Amino acid sequence: MTHYSAVKPPEAADDWTIPQEWDRYGADEHAMWDHLFERQTRMLPGRVAPAFLEGLDILRLSKPGIPDFTELNARLMDATGWQVVAVPGLVPDAVFFDHLANRRFVAGRFIRTPEQIDYLEEPDIFHDVFGHVPLLANPVFADFMQAYGRGGQRAGELGAIERLARLYWYTVEFGLIRGAEGLLIYGAGIVSSFSESIFALDDPSPNRIAFDLGRVMRTPYRIDDFQQTYFVIDSFEDLLHQTIESDFAPLYRALQGTPDIDPAAVLDSDRVDHRGTQHYAHSRTVPTKAPA
Ligand SMILES: [Fe+2]
Repeated sequence: MTHYSAVKPPEAADDWTIPQEWDRYGADEHAMWDHLFERQTRMLPGRVAPAFLEGLDILRLSKPGIPDFTELNARLMDATGWQVVAVPGLVPDAVFFDHLANRRFVAGRFIRTPEQIDYLEEPDIFHDVFGHVPLLANPVFADFMQAYGRGGQRAGELGAIERLARLYWYTVEFGLIRGAEGLLIYGAGIVSSFSESIFALDDPSPNRIAFDLGRVMRTPYRIDDFQQTYFVIDSFEDLLHQTIESDFAPLYRALQGTPDIDPAAVLDSDRVDHRGTQHYAHSRTVPTKAPA
């Protein structure tokens, strides 16, 4: 999730969208897309939710390289009624939620440079489109995303944006799902990352804990490194049911005043698939100055 209050650039429309201008991409940018696409699709089978692989065909368009949103949107509209719209970068919460509530997914139009191939701070078109669009072609997940947008509109009035953002983070971006033969990835932040696609499933460091809505809403996350805990859903239907079909207002009230849970913690009440060593996170801890 990449939205916060910012000043709208003059070239953007009232809803912050800009034209993709597909003709302006250079050969090196298309080659970067093709390289990332090939690297991820070679590695993902057996690691990713089958629904993601089924949805991936929607990105196999008539031309190689970065998807042209005109052609992509015609296919996505047929599949689930969703659209992808280009935005100049980070957009305010209200704009983000309004697009989702109307089945529009906002995407950056730039693509990472070779220097940024494995880490970039702002999501690029590879993250936004490769990571998110395949599941937008899944009818259940598509409904979940729209309902999330509507939930965001209500969360603003209830002062609960941060709690709802944690739901997005630990599902849409970094979620795991139970498969027939073990855990699988589906979150866009994982599936668009070569290294996290391996870390999230195979590394002994992070916790892997069954998804629980209230628990997730109390857990802060880190945006600059691998997660210390991944939450596991049973199915997209269950995610839709557990979240969107419940009324968030009483939950927000119940959570009011409860302390946050450390991102590395395992609680007695957790259903644990794997208790992480946190070895990786500890190895990354940089000593900081003592608080003043
Ligand atoms: Fe994302």
